[in-house]
Amino acid sequence: MARATSQCGLSLIHLTLLLSSTLLSATLEEQNDNPITRFQRYLQINTAHPTPDYSSAVSYLISQANSIGGILHKTLEFSPGKPLLLLTWPGSHSSLPSILLNSHLDSVPAESSKWTHPPFSATRTSDGNIFARGAQDDKCIAMQYLEAIRNLRNNNFVPVRSVHISLVPDEEVGGFAGAAKFVESEEFQALNVGFALDEGQASVGDEFRVFYADRIPWNLKIKAKGQPGHGSKLYDNSAMENLMKSVEVVSRFRESQFDVVKAGKAMNSEVVSVNPVYLKAGVPTQDGFAMNVQPSEAEAGFDLRLTPTTDPEEMKRRIAAEWAPSVRNVSFEIIEKGPIRDYLGRPLLTATNDSNPWWLVFKQAITSVGEKLSKPEILPSTTDARYLRQKGIPVLGFSPMKNTPILLHDHNEHLRDTVYMKGIQVYESLISSLSSFTEASH
Ligand SMILES: *[C@@H]1O[C@H](CO)[C@@H](O)[C@H](O)[C@H]1NC(C)=O
Ligand SMILES: *[C@@H]1O[C@H](CO)[C@@H](O)[C@H](O)[C@H]1NC(C)=O
Ligand SMILES: [Zn+2]
Repeated sequence: MARATSQCGLSLIHLTLLLSSTLLSATLEEQNDNPITRFQRYLQINTAHPTPDYSSAVSYLISQANSIGGILHKTLEFSPGKPLLLLTWPGSHSSLPSILLNSHLDSVPAESSKWTHPPFSATRTSDGNIFARGAQDDKCIAMQYLEAIRNLRNNNFVPVRSVHISLVPDEEVGGFAGAAKFVESEEFQALNVGFALDEGQASVGDEFRVFYADRIPWNLKIKAKGQPGHGSKLYDNSAMENLMKSVEVVSRFRESQFDVVKAGKAMNSEVVSVNPVYLKAGVPTQDGFAMNVQPSEAEAGFDLRLTPTTDPEEMKRRIAAEWAPSVRNVSFEIIEKGPIRDYLGRPLLTATNDSNPWWLVFKQAITSVGEKLSKPEILPSTTDARYLRQKGIPVLGFSPMKNTPILLHDHNEHLRDTVYMKGIQVYESLISSLSSFTEASH
C-alpha cells in the first residue's frame, strides 16, 4: 500500500520485472518448501532416545497439518513428557469405523562418528539419498501420510470414513508409555477404528513387503544353583554344570528351529527363535574371577521370540520341564514384553486372505498404482501394531520402500528421494481406497 503513488507510472519494463520477480520468489519458495524439504525438516528434529525432542516434533507436525488445512489435531499425554499427536481428517460419514495410520515419533540412537553424514543433518546427496536416523524407521511414513492427504485435498477428494494419523512416543522402547496406553484410552475408543496401517520394512527387491503379524518377545532368565566347592575337584551338581545342561538343551531347540529355516521350509520370522544374550557367573576378584572356586550360582539370559501362533502355555511347560527343570536346581523367569493374544483370546494376526475385506482393498490399492506386493510376512521384530491387534483391529505393517537396502537401526540409515516420492503416491491410492470403502461389516 505504501507504494500506491508509483503505480500509475508503471511501465512495461517495470511490469515485466515485477512479474519475473514474483515468479522467482514462487520458485524459491517451492525450492524451500516441497515434499523433500518438508521431510528433511522432520528428520532434522532429534527424536532419538534417550532424550527424544518430542515437543519440537509435535509442533512441526501440527504446523504441517495446519498448512494442509481441514485437519483437526489433539495432543494426548498418557505419560508425562511423552505426547501423542492425533490428527483427524473427518470423513463425510464419520459414524463409520475409521482408518488409522500410525507412526512413531521416536527413533533409536545413532553413533554420529560412524556415519558418513551427521545423522540429524538429513543430507541429500547428489544421487538423491537422504541420510538421517529415522529416514526409514519410520519418519518417512508419517510425512508420506501427510503429503498424500495434502495431495488428495488439493484434488478435492473427500473421504467417506474419517482418517486418523496417530504419532506416538516411545515405540522404540516398547511402546508401554505410548501406544499401549493409547489403545486403552477413551479417546482411542471414540475413534472407532476399523482398519489400521503401521510401519513395515524396506524391500531390497522390486515388490513391497507387507506384514500381518509381529513376533512375541520374551526375556527368559535361567538361574542355576549348586554346591560351591574347590575348583580342583570333580563333583556332581555344581551351579555351572546345571546351567550348562540347560544351555545345551536350549541350543538343541534353537538348532531344530534353525534347521527348518535352513531347509527353506519357513522364514526366519516363522519359527521360534532363541538366542543367548548374557551369562552371569563366577566369584569376582580384583582382577577378574577366582579360578579355583566353583560358584554356587550361575545365570543365563535368552532373547526368546514366539510366533503369533505359538501356544504360550505349551512354551512355558517346555521351559519348565526341559530347559529349566527344578529337579536340577534350576529356576526360570519369563518377562513378557507385550500382549500375546487379543481380547477374545485369538492370536495377534491379521488375515491376508478373502476373509478380510480390508486386505482385498489394500491389495487392490497397491496394484492400481502399478505396484506389486511380496508374500505377506511376519515381522521378525515388534511394533506398536500388536497393541492395535490386541483390540481385534486388523492392521497391516507397510512402509512403501522398494529397491532399498534395509537400514533400520543401522549406521547411515537413508532413503532415496524418488522412493520417498513414490511412497506418497502409493498412500494417496491407499488412503483414498480405504476411506471410500463402505462394504466392510465393520
Ligand atoms: C539340588 O540341591 C539339593 C540341595 O542342595 C542337592 O541335594 C541336590 O543334589 C541338588 N541337585 C542337583 C541336580 O543339583
Ligand atoms: C484366512 O486366514 C486366517 C488367518 O490366517 C485363517 O484363520 C482362515 O482360515 C483363512 N480363511 C480362508 C477363507 O482361507
Ligand atoms: Zn519403527
